[in-house]
Amino acid sequence: MDAGDKWMAALRTVGTGQGLRSVRSAWRRRCADAMGLPRPGAERARVPGVAQGAEPEPGGGVVRFARSSLRVRVVAGGAVFCGWDGAEPEPSYALAGACPEVDERAVLEPDTDGGWRVVSERVLVVVSRHGAVEVRTPGGVRLRRDLPPRWWEPVDPQAQDGGGPRWVQRSELAADARFFGLGGRAAGPRLRAGSYRLWNTDPGGVFEPGDDPLYITMPVQLVVADAGSHLVFHDNSWDGRVTLWEGEEGAGSGHDRPGRCEVRLEGGPLRYWVMAGTPARVLHDWAALTGGAALPPAWALGHHHARWGFGSEREVRRVVEGYKERGLPLSAVHLDIDHYRGHRVFTVDRERFPDLPGLAADLRRDGVRLVSIVDPAVKAEPGMAVYEGGREAGAFVRDAQGREVRGEVWPGESVFPDFTDPKARAWWGGLYAERLAQGFSGFWHDMNEPVSFAAFGDPTLPRSARHVLEGRGGDHREAHNVYGLTMARAGYEGLGALRPGERPFVFSRSGWAGMQRYGGTWSGDVVTGWTGLRASLALVLGLGLCGVPYSGPDIGGFTGSPSPELYLRWFQLGAYLPLFRTHSAISAGRREPWEFGAEVLEHAGAALRERMRLLPYFVTLAHLARRTGAPYARPVWWRSPEDRALRDCEDEFLLGDSLLVAPVLEAGADRRAVRLPRGRWYDTVTGRAHEGPGQVLLDAPLSRIPVLARAGSVIPVAGAEGGVELEVWAPAAGRTGGGVLITDAGEGWERPEVVRFTTRARGGVVTVEQEGAPELAYPVRMRG
Ligand code: GLC
Repeated sequence: MDAGDKWMAALRTVGTGQGLRSVRSAWRRRCADAMGLPRPGAERARVPGVAQGAEPEPGGGVVRFARSSLRVRVVAGGAVFCGWDGAEPEPSYALAGACPEVDERAVLEPDTDGGWRVVSERVLVVVSRHGAVEVRTPGGVRLRRDLPPRWWEPVDPQAQDGGGPRWVQRSELAADARFFGLGGRAAGPRLRAGSYRLWNTDPGGVFEPGDDPLYITMPVQLVVADAGSHLVFHDNSWDGRVTLWEGEEGAGSGHDRPGRCEVRLEGGPLRYWVMAGTPARVLHDWAALTGGAALPPAWALGHHHARWGFGSEREVRRVVEGYKERGLPLSAVHLDIDHYRGHRVFTVDRERFPDLPGLAADLRRDGVRLVSIVDPAVKAEPGMAVYEGGREAGAFVRDAQGREVRGEVWPGESVFPDFTDPKARAWWGGLYAERLAQGFSGFWHDMNEPVSFAAFGDPTLPRSARHVLEGRGGDHREAHNVYGLTMARAGYEGLGALRPGERPFVFSRSGWAGMQRYGGTWSGDVVTGWTGLRASLALVLGLGLCGVPYSGPDIGGFTGSPSPELYLRWFQLGAYLPLFRTHSAISAGRREPWEFGAEVLEHAGAALRERMRLLPYFVTLAHLARRTGAPYARPVWWRSPEDRALRDCEDEFLLGDSLLVAPVLEAGADRRAVRLPRGRWYDTVTGRAHEGPGQVLLDAPLSRIPVLARAGSVIPVAGAEGGVELEVWAPAAGRTGGGVLITDAGEGWERPEVVRFTTRARGGVVTVEQEGAPELAYPVRMRG
């Protein structure tokens, strides 16, 4: 099915009225672009030409070529900025604040053959006289070689269309290099040869692993090779395409085929950042550049139950009661668009939900929070408060003639806030006061690619739609990919102002580089099937490597009804992912753990309880993600990127440093092969030790998925009597290990407390010490 067919199928579920309006809306979009965008005229291809000289600057300098220039700048921490044709690091939607300080020690010097080089502590950048850029390790090993860029510009200089030239940059990488990232890609986490579009897209209705692009695309690539790992970020939000070719080693013939990558950008600057080092170091630098991840409140690390179509307050109470009766822990319930009045954002259907504040208060007494969906589209309805307020604030996206851009979304004909306008963000942020008054504690941003239903073509705003872009002005071609990111910012900042004492909980379907500053994301409408289960893990791991550590799938899949086995396997995986949430479409079957028979209930209950037992570990991982950039869920090669078998292993992951989780992703399996990184690993159920590196076959009965603990780990868990206890997995003889516990009050901004532990195995005795304390302040449970 292509996107158009999918949309039509999706629209059948919402009625023909909306179907017809989506034809009109698609037609309107097409006409707007035909009138609002200049027709492309004749273009010519250019290359930089020969280097003519260079000017040193602090942290690097500018190399001048016959037809362009390249700025190389090393910043504190070691990241390198390359900007062609006068491009500077700012303005940028990705950067956390001002561009970091330059590293004054990095200097530009002449290289052989008329080229130049910048020598810095972490990398060596070599610029050839034709404009090829090589990034090497300080020892001189090449990590990547970017060929001189090419660009297309109008032959007639008057014929500029506002986007500048279209750029193409080709790069060569090691033959053994593996690619990861590019945002949320269902076919990942390892990105095979292929072409990946950079344009946030709602696939419509549901997606499968072959669908690309999806809701979050980002020009962020993490490349892992024997020579080292590095991250490249093209700071450009325009539509584009990244094409990858994995290399091949010449099996003894000495003729390797290098890996290759091509980045095409339809407009905007050619500027990019490179950071090199171990994966942990690279992600640390990435977080330093784009911002630490928002810290979810502790309750957001528990179990969430969502559904589109609870339909009434009574049904919500019934489901919550169901969890309670069965002793199943529950942290949050999410209300979808069906609790709005006619799908209008920031309203309540009072017939079906007569007393939301009362419901919220009752749930809260049972430790359950309410989370609200928030869609950006506002029904274009004169007299409706949100619409009128937005008009007054001048907040809606307009076309080139100054008219409101109209689209078609759940409430019908709608307008769209321009979140690239600080004024619009401030207005929107204030609207969350209504949600807080209704008793909601968290916010689920949806449809913010943004979606406007379209019977044909791109289901979003016209590319010619105007945006404020922080005062610079521009159109949707530049603003599209940052729409979700800037909406998240509006929500996060609004909530921060309304409830300064609480850390906001926002997660968002769409986003871009830097979105982690405001919250996380989820898988979107993943297909119900074993392929969807696999894609769920791919998305979480891939996004984590792009700096977005908090995410998770719709457990059970968005559509239809999973088999009891599939539901259970999804639930067991979800229990180890940061966002642990069941959710489904209005037409889909139920997702409560007790709807799949007694056996599933028993095993899902065990997974739920294990998640709650691990909560102190999850809270610690959330803090570590914020401080260090390391995602909670990491590929198994995280600490051993040189292990090629691990690089290709996509069906298991590390949860923090201590646990290895091997979900069951196939029907009928009761055992699975598990690849182990080096060191000793204990099966957490049987206690049996396995030595890595290597592969072992482990039991995976319906009751559990294999989870292994690294020898020497100290894992903070919830004690049976409350409080935190330490689960200590014995180090191998003569070895040491350790762990960390980070605790906080759960919701506010108080400084967290960080406690470190070391373990040692000597003479058959395992000891645990707490850093800076004469004795341990926590009970210990020895394992292994
Ligand atoms: C979108 C969301 C989904 C939600 C639905 C209705 O499809 O991805 O999670 O349930 O809209 O709001």
